[in-house]
Amino acid sequence: MADSIFQFNRRAPIGIFDSGIGGLSVLRHVRTLLPEESLLYFADSGFAPYGEKPEAVIVERTVSIAAFLLTQQVKALVVACNTATAAAIAGLRARYPELPVVGVEPGLKPAANLSRSGTIGVLATANTLASEKFLKLQAQVAQDAKVTFLLQACNGLANQIEKGELSSREIYQLVERYVKPLVEQGADTLVLGCTHYPFVEQLIREIAGPNVSIVDTGEPVAQQLCRLLIQRDLLTQSPSPDKLLAFTTGSHSSLALAFSKLLQLDPPIQLVSGANIRD
Ligand code: DGL
Repeated sequence: MADSIFQFNRRAPIGIFDSGIGGLSVLRHVRTLLPEESLLYFADSGFAPYGEKPEAVIVERTVSIAAFLLTQQVKALVVACNTATAAAIAGLRARYPELPVVGVEPGLKPAANLSRSGTIGVLATANTLASEKFLKLQAQVAQDAKVTFLLQACNGLANQIEKGELSSREIYQLVERYVKPLVEQGADTLVLGCTHYPFVEQLIREIAGPNVSIVDTGEPVAQQLCRLLIQRDLLTQSPSPDKLLAFTTGSHSSLALAFSKLLQLDPPIQLVSGANIRD
Protein backbone atom coordinates (compact mmCIF):
# COMPACT_ATOMS: atom_id res chain seq x y z
CA MET A 1 0.00 0.00 0.00
CA ALA A 2 1.43 3.39 -0.99
CA ASP A 3 2.07 5.89 1.81
CA SER A 4 0.73 9.43 1.66
CA ILE A 5 1.90 12.10 -0.77
CA PHE A 6 5.10 13.99 0.04
CA GLN A 7 6.16 17.44 -1.00
CA PHE A 8 9.78 17.14 -2.07
CA ASN A 9 11.84 20.25 -1.88
CA ARG A 10 14.94 21.10 -3.93
CA ARG A 11 16.91 22.19 -0.85
CA ALA A 12 16.24 18.92 0.97
CA PRO A 13 19.05 16.37 1.40
CA ILE A 14 19.54 13.11 -0.47
CA GLY A 15 19.48 9.99 1.74
CA ILE A 16 22.04 7.27 1.04
CA PHE A 17 22.10 4.03 2.99
CA ASP A 18 23.82 0.72 3.28
CA SER A 19 24.13 -2.10 5.78
CA GLY A 20 27.32 -0.36 6.91
CA ILE A 21 30.26 1.48 5.40
CA GLY A 22 29.94 -0.02 1.88
CA GLY A 23 27.66 2.75 0.66
CA LEU A 24 30.53 5.21 1.15
CA SER A 25 31.88 3.82 -2.14
CA VAL A 26 28.70 5.20 -3.76
CA LEU A 27 28.56 8.39 -1.68
CA ARG A 28 32.01 9.43 -2.95
CA HIS A 29 30.71 9.42 -6.56
CA VAL A 30 27.54 11.28 -5.56
CA ARG A 31 29.66 13.98 -3.90
CA THR A 32 31.85 14.30 -6.99
CA LEU A 33 28.95 14.52 -9.41
CA LEU A 34 26.59 16.60 -7.25
CA PRO A 35 28.87 18.69 -5.03
CA GLU A 36 26.16 21.23 -4.22
CA GLU A 37 23.75 18.70 -2.72
CA SER A 38 23.27 18.00 0.99
CA LEU A 39 23.68 14.33 1.86
CA LEU A 40 22.53 12.14 4.74
CA TYR A 41 24.37 8.85 5.06
CA PHE A 42 22.82 6.01 7.08
CA ALA A 43 25.03 3.06 8.06
CA ASP A 44 23.02 0.18 9.53
CA SER A 45 26.21 -1.23 11.02
CA GLY A 46 24.41 -2.51 14.11
CA PHE A 47 22.65 -4.97 11.80
CA ALA A 48 25.44 -5.64 9.26
CA PRO A 49 26.17 -7.76 7.40
CA TYR A 50 22.95 -8.15 5.39
CA GLY A 51 24.46 -10.62 2.95
CA GLU A 52 23.62 -13.79 4.78
CA LYS A 53 20.49 -12.66 6.68
CA PRO A 54 16.91 -13.81 5.89
CA GLU A 55 15.27 -11.69 3.22
CA ALA A 56 12.41 -10.68 5.55
CA VAL A 57 14.93 -9.08 7.95
CA ILE A 58 16.55 -7.07 5.13
CA VAL A 59 13.16 -5.89 3.87
CA GLU A 60 12.19 -4.82 7.39
CA ARG A 61 15.47 -2.92 7.91
CA THR A 62 15.22 -1.24 4.51
CA VAL A 63 11.64 -0.08 5.04
CA SER A 64 12.48 1.21 8.54
CA ILE A 65 15.55 3.11 7.34
CA ALA A 66 13.67 4.65 4.41
CA ALA A 67 10.92 5.76 6.80
CA PHE A 68 13.54 7.25 9.13
CA LEU A 69 15.25 9.13 6.30
CA LEU A 70 11.87 10.46 5.18
CA THR A 71 11.37 11.92 8.65
CA GLN A 72 14.63 13.80 7.91
CA GLN A 73 12.86 15.20 4.80
CA VAL A 74 15.03 13.59 2.13
CA LYS A 75 14.05 14.37 -1.46
CA ALA A 76 15.57 11.18 -2.92
CA LEU A 77 16.89 7.88 -1.67
CA VAL A 78 19.90 5.86 -2.79
CA VAL A 79 19.84 2.23 -1.67
CA ALA A 80 23.63 1.93 -1.80
CA CYS A 81 23.53 -1.79 -1.10
CA ASN A 82 23.13 -4.54 -3.70
CA THR A 83 21.65 -6.91 -1.13
CA ALA A 84 18.97 -4.45 0.05
CA THR A 85 18.23 -3.42 -3.54
CA ALA A 86 17.65 -7.03 -4.56
CA ALA A 87 15.43 -7.76 -1.57
CA ALA A 88 13.49 -4.57 -1.06
CA ILE A 89 13.61 -1.92 -3.76
CA ALA A 90 10.41 -3.00 -5.51
CA GLY A 91 8.55 -2.78 -2.20
CA LEU A 92 10.05 0.63 -1.44
CA ARG A 93 9.01 2.02 -4.81
CA ALA A 94 5.48 0.67 -4.32
CA ARG A 95 5.30 2.23 -0.89
CA TYR A 96 6.68 5.65 -1.88
CA PRO A 97 5.71 6.08 -5.52
CA GLU A 98 6.61 9.79 -5.62
CA LEU A 99 10.04 9.40 -4.06
CA PRO A 100 12.98 9.10 -6.46
CA VAL A 101 14.66 5.84 -5.41
CA VAL A 102 17.92 4.65 -6.96
CA GLY A 103 19.26 1.16 -6.29
CA VAL A 104 22.52 -0.63 -6.96
CA GLU A 105 22.86 -3.85 -8.88
CA PRO A 106 25.87 -5.77 -10.14
CA GLY A 107 27.10 -4.28 -13.44
CA LEU A 108 26.53 -7.33 -15.61
CA LYS A 109 25.84 -5.39 -18.82
CA PRO A 110 28.96 -3.21 -18.67
CA ALA A 111 30.96 -6.35 -17.84
CA ALA A 112 29.53 -8.18 -20.87
CA ASN A 113 30.57 -5.23 -23.07
CA LEU A 114 34.10 -5.23 -21.66
CA SER A 115 34.84 -8.94 -21.62
CA ARG A 116 36.87 -10.45 -24.47
CA SER A 117 36.86 -14.02 -23.18
CA GLY A 118 33.08 -14.03 -22.57
CA THR A 119 33.67 -15.36 -19.05
CA ILE A 120 32.84 -12.95 -16.24
CA GLY A 121 33.19 -13.42 -12.49
CA VAL A 122 30.58 -11.87 -10.21
CA LEU A 123 31.57 -11.18 -6.60
CA ALA A 124 28.58 -10.47 -4.36
CA THR A 125 26.81 -11.55 -1.20
CA ALA A 126 25.05 -14.91 -1.08
CA ASN A 127 21.68 -13.12 -0.83
CA THR A 128 22.28 -10.94 -3.89
CA LEU A 129 23.30 -13.93 -6.01
CA ALA A 130 20.30 -15.99 -4.87
CA SER A 131 17.78 -13.18 -5.45
CA GLU A 132 15.13 -13.36 -8.14
CA LYS A 133 16.09 -9.87 -9.36
CA PHE A 134 19.72 -10.86 -9.90
CA LEU A 135 18.94 -14.26 -11.47
CA LYS A 136 16.59 -12.63 -13.96
CA LEU A 137 19.19 -10.02 -14.93
CA GLN A 138 21.89 -12.67 -15.22
CA ALA A 139 19.78 -14.89 -17.50
CA GLN A 140 18.85 -11.92 -19.71
CA VAL A 141 22.40 -10.59 -20.12
CA ALA A 142 23.90 -14.07 -20.59
CA GLN A 143 21.42 -14.76 -23.38
CA ASP A 144 21.67 -11.35 -25.11
CA ALA A 145 25.46 -11.02 -24.94
CA LYS A 146 26.31 -14.74 -25.12
CA VAL A 147 28.56 -14.62 -22.09
CA THR A 148 29.00 -16.91 -19.09
CA PHE A 149 28.80 -15.62 -15.54
CA LEU A 150 30.68 -17.39 -12.75
CA LEU A 151 28.93 -16.50 -9.50
CA GLN A 152 31.01 -16.22 -6.35
CA ALA A 153 29.33 -15.58 -3.00
CA CYS A 154 31.96 -13.85 -0.86
CA ASN A 155 30.77 -14.93 2.59
CA GLY A 156 32.49 -13.00 5.34
CA LEU A 157 34.19 -10.42 3.12
CA ALA A 158 31.82 -7.47 3.71
CA ASN A 159 31.97 -8.23 7.41
CA GLN A 160 35.79 -8.07 7.43
CA ILE A 161 35.75 -4.81 5.44
CA GLU A 162 33.20 -3.46 7.92
CA LYS A 163 35.87 -3.96 10.63
CA GLY A 164 37.99 -1.40 8.82
CA GLU A 165 41.25 -3.37 8.74
CA LEU A 166 41.66 -3.34 5.00
CA SER A 167 45.13 -4.80 4.97
CA SER A 168 44.36 -7.62 7.40
CA ARG A 169 45.45 -11.18 6.76
CA GLU A 170 41.79 -12.30 6.88
CA ILE A 171 40.85 -9.97 4.02
CA TYR A 172 43.83 -11.11 1.94
CA GLN A 173 42.90 -14.78 2.44
CA LEU A 174 39.22 -14.22 1.61
CA VAL A 175 39.96 -12.21 -1.54
CA GLU A 176 42.48 -14.82 -2.66
CA ARG A 177 40.01 -17.65 -1.99
CA TYR A 178 37.22 -15.96 -3.95
CA VAL A 179 39.08 -14.28 -6.82
CA LYS A 180 41.74 -16.82 -7.82
CA PRO A 181 39.39 -19.62 -8.94
CA LEU A 182 37.44 -17.18 -11.13
CA VAL A 183 40.59 -16.11 -12.98
CA GLU A 184 41.72 -19.75 -13.24
CA GLN A 185 38.39 -20.57 -14.92
CA GLY A 186 39.01 -17.89 -17.56
CA ALA A 187 37.25 -14.80 -16.20
CA ASP A 188 38.82 -11.68 -17.72
CA THR A 189 36.31 -9.34 -16.06
CA LEU A 190 35.20 -9.19 -12.43
CA VAL A 191 32.03 -7.46 -11.27
CA LEU A 192 32.06 -5.91 -7.80
CA GLY A 193 28.49 -6.79 -6.80
CA CYS A 194 28.67 -5.45 -3.25
CA THR A 195 29.33 -1.83 -2.34
CA HIS A 196 31.87 -2.85 0.31
CA TYR A 197 34.20 -4.44 -2.27
CA PRO A 198 35.49 -1.26 -4.02
CA PHE A 199 37.43 -0.63 -0.80
CA VAL A 200 39.53 -3.72 -1.53
CA GLU A 201 39.66 -3.16 -5.29
CA GLN A 202 43.43 -2.68 -5.22
CA LEU A 203 43.90 -6.06 -3.56
CA ILE A 204 41.46 -7.71 -5.99
CA ARG A 205 43.52 -6.26 -8.88
CA GLU A 206 46.75 -7.52 -7.38
CA ILE A 207 45.38 -11.05 -6.99
CA ALA A 208 43.54 -11.12 -10.34
CA GLY A 209 46.49 -9.79 -12.31
CA PRO A 210 46.86 -7.05 -14.93
CA ASN A 211 44.72 -8.64 -17.65
CA VAL A 212 41.51 -8.64 -15.64
CA SER A 213 39.08 -5.70 -15.78
CA ILE A 214 37.03 -4.70 -12.77
CA VAL A 215 33.51 -3.27 -12.96
CA ASP A 216 32.09 -1.13 -10.17
CA THR A 217 28.71 0.60 -10.38
CA GLY A 218 29.25 3.54 -7.99
CA GLU A 219 29.61 6.11 -10.76
CA PRO A 220 26.64 4.96 -12.91
CA VAL A 221 24.48 5.01 -9.76
CA ALA A 222 25.45 8.64 -9.12
CA GLN A 223 24.67 9.43 -12.76
CA GLN A 224 21.25 7.79 -12.50
CA LEU A 225 20.53 9.81 -9.35
CA CYS A 226 21.52 12.99 -11.20
CA ARG A 227 19.21 12.12 -14.13
CA LEU A 228 16.28 11.48 -11.79
CA LEU A 229 16.80 14.76 -9.92
CA ILE A 230 16.94 16.68 -13.21
CA GLN A 231 13.78 14.93 -14.50
CA ARG A 232 11.88 15.81 -11.33
CA ASP A 233 13.34 19.33 -11.17
CA LEU A 234 14.85 18.54 -7.78
CA LEU A 235 18.46 19.70 -8.14
CA THR A 236 19.31 22.21 -5.44
CA GLN A 237 19.50 25.87 -6.43
CA SER A 238 21.02 26.93 -3.10
CA PRO A 239 24.10 25.01 -1.96
CA SER A 240 24.17 24.60 1.82
CA PRO A 241 27.27 24.90 4.03
CA ASP A 242 26.74 21.79 6.20
CA LYS A 243 26.33 19.32 3.44
CA LEU A 244 26.98 15.95 5.02
CA LEU A 245 25.51 14.33 8.10
CA ALA A 246 25.74 10.65 9.02
CA PHE A 247 23.71 8.26 11.15
CA THR A 248 24.69 4.84 12.42
CA THR A 249 23.03 2.02 14.33
CA GLY A 250 26.52 0.71 15.14
CA SER A 251 29.55 2.42 16.60
CA HIS A 252 30.18 6.15 16.26
CA SER A 253 33.96 5.69 16.26
CA SER A 254 33.91 2.97 13.57
CA LEU A 255 31.90 5.12 11.18
CA ALA A 256 34.05 8.18 11.95
CA LEU A 257 37.16 6.11 11.24
CA ALA A 258 35.71 4.80 7.97
CA PHE A 259 34.84 8.31 6.78
CA SER A 260 38.28 9.62 7.63
CA LYS A 261 40.29 6.64 6.31
CA LEU A 262 38.29 5.98 3.15
CA LEU A 263 37.08 9.44 2.13
CA GLN A 264 39.15 11.87 4.22
CA LEU A 265 35.93 13.35 5.62
CA ASP A 266 34.87 14.17 9.14
CA PRO A 267 31.08 14.66 9.14
CA PRO A 268 28.93 14.95 12.27
CA ILE A 269 27.61 11.48 13.18
CA GLN A 270 24.47 10.71 15.16
CA LEU A 271 23.80 7.40 16.85
CA VAL A 272 20.38 5.96 16.10
CA SER A 273 18.87 3.24 18.24
CA GLY A 274 18.53 0.30 15.91
CA ALA A 275 15.31 -1.40 16.85
CA ASN A 276 12.86 1.48 16.56
CA ILE A 277 14.30 3.82 14.02
CA ARG A 278 10.88 4.57 12.60
CA ASP A 279 9.78 6.24 15.88
N1 DGL B 1 27.22 -3.53 0.93
C1 DGL B 1 26.19 -4.46 0.77
C2 DGL B 1 25.93 -4.85 -0.68
O1 DGL B 1 26.20 -4.08 -1.57
C3 DGL B 1 26.00 -5.60 1.69
C4 DGL B 1 27.08 -6.14 2.50
C5 DGL B 1 26.51 -6.91 3.64
O2 DGL B 1 25.97 -6.27 4.54
O3 DGL B 1 26.57 -8.16 3.62
O4 DGL B 1 25.40 -5.91 -0.94
